[in-house]
Amino acid sequence: MGRRVHLEQPVHEEALALLRENAEVSVGFGPEARELDDALLAEVNALLVRTKPLGAEEIEKAPRLRVIARHGVGVDNVAVGAATRRGVPVLITPRANLRSVAEHVFALALAVSRNLLRADRCVREGRFAERDSLVGRELFGGTLGVIGLGRIGEEVARIGAAGFGMRVLGHDPYLDETAVRARGGEPVGSLDELLPDCDLVSVHVPLTEETRGLLGARELGLMRPGSVLVQAARGGVVDEGALVEALREGPLAGAGIDVFGEEPPPADHPLFSVETAVLSPHTAASTRQAMRRMGLDAARGILDILGGADALSPPAGAPWQTVNPSFADAGEREGGAAGSNAQDL
Ligand SMILES: NC(=O)c1ccc[n+]([C@@H]2O[C@H](COP(=O)([O-])OP(=O)(O)OC[C@H]3O[C@@H](n4cnc5c(N)ncnc54)[C@H](O)[C@@H]3O)[C@@H](O)[C@H]2O)c1
Repeated sequence: MGRRVHLEQPVHEEALALLRENAEVSVGFGPEARELDDALLAEVNALLVRTKPLGAEEIEKAPRLRVIARHGVGVDNVAVGAATRRGVPVLITPRANLRSVAEHVFALALAVSRNLLRADRCVREGRFAERDSLVGRELFGGTLGVIGLGRIGEEVARIGAAGFGMRVLGHDPYLDETAVRARGGEPVGSLDELLPDCDLVSVHVPLTEETRGLLGARELGLMRPGSVLVQAARGGVVDEGALVEALREGPLAGAGIDVFGEEPPPADHPLFSVETAVLSPHTAASTRQAMRRMGLDAARGILDILGGADALSPPAGAPWQTVNPSFADAGEREGGAAGSNAQDL
C-alpha cells in the first residue's frame, strides 16, 4: 500500500520525523516546498491539514487519497462532504488541544476582569498612579455559564469549579441532564435561563448553521450587567456587531475574543476601538504542548490508516477520531469493502 503523505504547513518536528520514518513525505513549506498541484494530488495517499482550506476540487483530483488528518478539531476548512463521497475518512485529534484552549479561556477572562492590558500600558507609559482606576473583579465565587459541554467545555467547567471556586451552569441541548452533570455543570435547559445568571459565559459549540449567530443582540442583552463573555469557539457563533453594542452600551463589562467571523479581522473592525475587549489572534490552542500533541496525533492517525487500521473502529487508545463515518458507505455503493480506505486505488 502506498505511503505518500503531503503536509501543506509546518507541524511539530517530532511529528514530521515520525512521518518521515514511516512514509514518503512532501511538504508545502521551506526549502523543499512542493506545490499541491495536479501531479502531486494524483499520487498522494494522505494529507495532513492544518489551517489552509482543502476543497472538494482538490479531493476529487486525488484518486489515491486514503485519509485526511486534521491537526486539531475543527473541520470547517476541509470539504468533508467531498471526502465522504470519495470514501475518504477525515480524522481529527480530539484531545490534543483541549487543555490549551481551556487555559486560554481563563487567560482571557482574567485579562478582562483584571484590566490587564490597560494596566500594562499604565506602567509602561509612566501612569502608575492610575492604578486606582483599574480595580478589577475576582472570578472566585461567581457563576460560570458554559455553552456546549463537549471536550473543551468540560475542561473549562472543571477549571472554573476547581481553580476558581465558581458555580458552573451548563447548557447543551445534545446532552441529557445526567451527562451535563457528569461534565461538571448544573443543567440549564435554555440560553434564556442561563445568560441572566452568569458572571462569566464561555461558548464552546462548533460552528454550524444552527449555531451561527447563537449569541446575537437579544441573547447578549439577556446577560447579567457587568458580566464577561469569552468566545474561543469559532467566529460566527457570536454576532460581532451586537457584541460591540453590548460592550459599549451594556450589559457586558468586557469580552475576551480569540476567533473572528473574518480572520484576520479587517483593520477597521469595530471591536478594535473597544477598550474592554481583549483580543487574541486565534491562538487559544497555540501552546508548545498542544502543537506537539496535534502533530503527533494527526501523524499517528495517518500512519494507522495507511497501515490498515479501520477508521470506523480505531485501535485502542488511538488519539484520533473519524468525523465522517459515512465515508464507508461510498465503498459499499461502489461495491468495495470499506471505501477507498480498503485499497490502494
Ligand atoms: N480557538 C481555538 O483555537 C480552538 C481550538 C480548538 C477548538 N475550537 C473550537 O471549540 C469548539 C468546541 O470544541 P470541542 O472540541 O469541545 O467540540 P465538541 O464537539 O467536543 O463539543 C461541542 C459541544 O457543543 C454542543 N453543542 C452543539 N450545538 C449546541 C448548541 N446549539 N448549544 C449548546 N451546545 C451545543 C455539542 O453537543 C457538544 O457537546 C469548536 O467550535 C472548535 O472548533 C477552537
